[in-house]
Amino acid sequence: MNILITGATGYIGSHIALVLIHKGYNVVLYDNLSNSNHNVNTALKIITGKIIPFIHGDIRDTEKLVEILVDYKIDAVVHLAGKKAVNESIQKPIYYYENNVAGSISLLKAIEKVNLKKVVFSSSATVYGNPQYLPIDEKHSTNPTNPYGQSKLQIENILFDYTKSEQNFGVACLRYFNPVGAHQSGLIGENPKGIPNNLMPYICQVATGKLPYLKIFGNDYNTHDGTGVRDYIHVMDIAEGHLAALNLIENTKGWHTINLGSGQGYSVLEVLITFEQTSNKFIPYKIENRRPGDIDICFAKTEKAEKILKWKAKRTLNDMCWSTWNFHLQSFVNNN
Ligand SMILES: NC(=O)c1ccc[n+]([C@@H]2O[C@H](COP(=O)([O-])OP(=O)(O)OC[C@H]3O[C@@H](n4cnc5c(N)ncnc54)[C@H](O)[C@@H]3O)[C@@H](O)[C@H]2O)c1
Repeated sequence: MNILITGATGYIGSHIALVLIHKGYNVVLYDNLSNSNHNVNTALKIITGKIIPFIHGDIRDTEKLVEILVDYKIDAVVHLAGKKAVNESIQKPIYYYENNVAGSISLLKAIEKVNLKKVVFSSSATVYGNPQYLPIDEKHSTNPTNPYGQSKLQIENILFDYTKSEQNFGVACLRYFNPVGAHQSGLIGENPKGIPNNLMPYICQVATGKLPYLKIFGNDYNTHDGTGVRDYIHVMDIAEGHLAALNLIENTKGWHTINLGSGQGYSVLEVLITFEQTSNKFIPYKIENRRPGDIDICFAKTEKAEKILKWKAKRTLNDMCWSTWNFHLQSFVNNN
C-alpha cells in the first residue's frame, strides 16, 4: 500500500513513517519544513536502511499534491501537516486558519480530483475544550477554547461532510491527547524551535542547562499533589495507532472519531520525578501563577480505540521519560 504522509518530517509524522515502513508500506514524505528539517529524513534513512521519497511542498499547493498522488499511486493519506501552538494561534488566528483549514481544503481538492478514498487525520483532544466529565470519550461535546483547536474542529467538520457526500470514502479522525517520548534509536524526537510550549521538551532543556528551571504553572489545582494532570502517551504508541487506523479504513468506509490517549493521568510533579529518576538529573523548578484557561485534570477514555482499532497504548511513563532524554542526549552530542 502506498501512503502519503503530510507533515512527515515533524515530530509525530516521522515516527509514523518509521512504523509504516517497518510494516512494509511504501511511504512518501511531504512537508514544507516550516517546523522541521532535512535531518529527519536522513535519520529515517539511517534507521530503516531505505531511501524514502521526500517532497518539499506545502499542502496549500493543490496541483503539486495531485501530481504526487498520481505519480506515486497513493492509496491513502495520513494528514498531519499543520501548525500546533495554542498561544501562537491566539496571536495569529488568520495564519492558523489559512495554514491548517485552507491547507486541508487544498489537500481534499487534490484527493477528490484523483478519487482517493482513505484519509487518517491528526486531530487533537483540544477540540473538546474544558472537560464536562472524565474520562473524556468521543461523545463528549466539542467546544475548543482557542483558534488552534477551532482549526482542528473545522477540518473535522469538513472531512465529515465530505465523507457523507462521497460514497466509499473512509476517514479515521484521531484525537491525540499529549504525545511525548521518542523512538528508541534517539535519532528522531520532539525538537521544537525556540522555548518549548510543552512540558517534556521544557524539562529536557532544563536538564541540559539551556533553561535555568522549570516553571510549574499552579500547585493549587484540585489534584492529588496540586499540579495539573494530563494524559501523556508515548509517540510510538501514537504511531502504532495510525497503523491500526490504516487497517481500519482499508476495510471499512465512513467516519470514525477515535481518541488516542493512554487513559491515564499524570501530574506535572509525577512527570518531573520520573524524569529525574530515569535521567539521573536534578530538575530545579519554581511554582508560578496558573495560566488562564488551564484545567485541573484531563484524560481519555480509550475503550473505542481498543474495540475498533484493536489498539491500546502500552508504553509507560518511564519509557516516555527515558526515550525523551535519550533523544536529547544524542542531539546534544551531535550538536556540540
Ligand atoms: N504534538 C502534539 O502535542 C499534538 C497533539 C494533538 C494533535 N497534534 C497534531 O498532530 C500533527 C503533527 O504534530 P507534531 O507534534 O508532529 O507537529 P510538528 O510541528 O512537529 O509537525 C508538523 C509538520 O507539518 C509541517 N507543516 C506545517 N504546515 C504545513 C504546510 N502548510 N504544508 C506542509 N507542511 C506543513 C511542519 O513543517 C512540520 O514538519 C499536527 O497536525 C498537530 O496539530 C499534535
